[in-house]
Amino acid sequence: MTVTPTDRVGLSFRRSLPSYTREASPQKRIARLLVKRLLRVCPEWRFNCAFEFGCGTGNLTLPLAQELELGRLFLNDLVADVAHDLPVRPTQFIAGPVETVPWPATPDLIASASALQWVEDPAALIHRLAELLQPKGWMAISTFGPDQFKELVALGSDAGAPGYMTDADLSVAMAETLDVRDSGMLTCRLWFDDPRDVLRHLRETGVNGRAKGGWTRRDLERFCSDYVERFAIDGRVPLTYQPVWAIATRA
Ligand SMILES: C[S@@+](CC[C@H](N)C(=O)[O-])C[C@H]1O[C@@H](n2cnc3c(N)ncnc32)[C@H](O)[C@@H]1O
Repeated sequence: MTVTPTDRVGLSFRRSLPSYTREASPQKRIARLLVKRLLRVCPEWRFNCAFEFGCGTGNLTLPLAQELELGRLFLNDLVADVAHDLPVRPTQFIAGPVETVPWPATPDLIASASALQWVEDPAALIHRLAELLQPKGWMAISTFGPDQFKELVALGSDAGAPGYMTDADLSVAMAETLDVRDSGMLTCRLWFDDPRDVLRHLRETGVNGRAKGGWTRRDLERFCSDYVERFAIDGRVPLTYQPVWAIATRA
């Protein structure tokens, strides 16, 4: 049986489930930021039908459910196992790739954090979802920009996701059907004592699903010494995160 890139991404996130919540502090902060920005621009607090894709362990689901009244809640993730331990019980959990699973018919809130970058053609997905959104409905999405993990890219790693976009790209994708009310992009860095800790962080957050692997001990040593030589400051090494978000409504 052929293992597709999407299968490998799913496997990698499934393996990271025991450590994801502890290790994914950037994703947790990004999800809370997205909800905070949504509350600033959106006058609605009650939604009849919310649809969140790539929900993972619920970093976005929880603040959405705490801050808003959600009538019916449809959650999706590539990894079926996340359904066993969600912080909020959904009306329905839909397992599989968001691009091909059945969607709820009439969502008035479509949300997602830190998942869109795994989709091969994120703009096409946003167009389709925007068409589905009900009049006066809201869409709040975060993903990552082209400088995400730029240290790894500079060192020739293939661990990145296929669909990074800038805030302008995301806004343009939404603006075909929706009015964009807020968007932005931040660049921040996590610091580690050793490049091996960077690799551990990637593994424990499951974001290395596309990496081909198969490194020899020598490859690992070279990667670590190059990382230190090019990026270390005061004995520590950075890993860049570049969260991007856009929030839009349908007239
Ligand atoms: C970095 S995690 C983010 C999870 C959560 N939204 C958060 O903010 O912490 C990315 C999630 O997207 C899911 N995912 C990746 N590709 C997907 C796809 N094509 N369809 C649905 N979910 C997908 C992964 O299984 C993983 O749970």
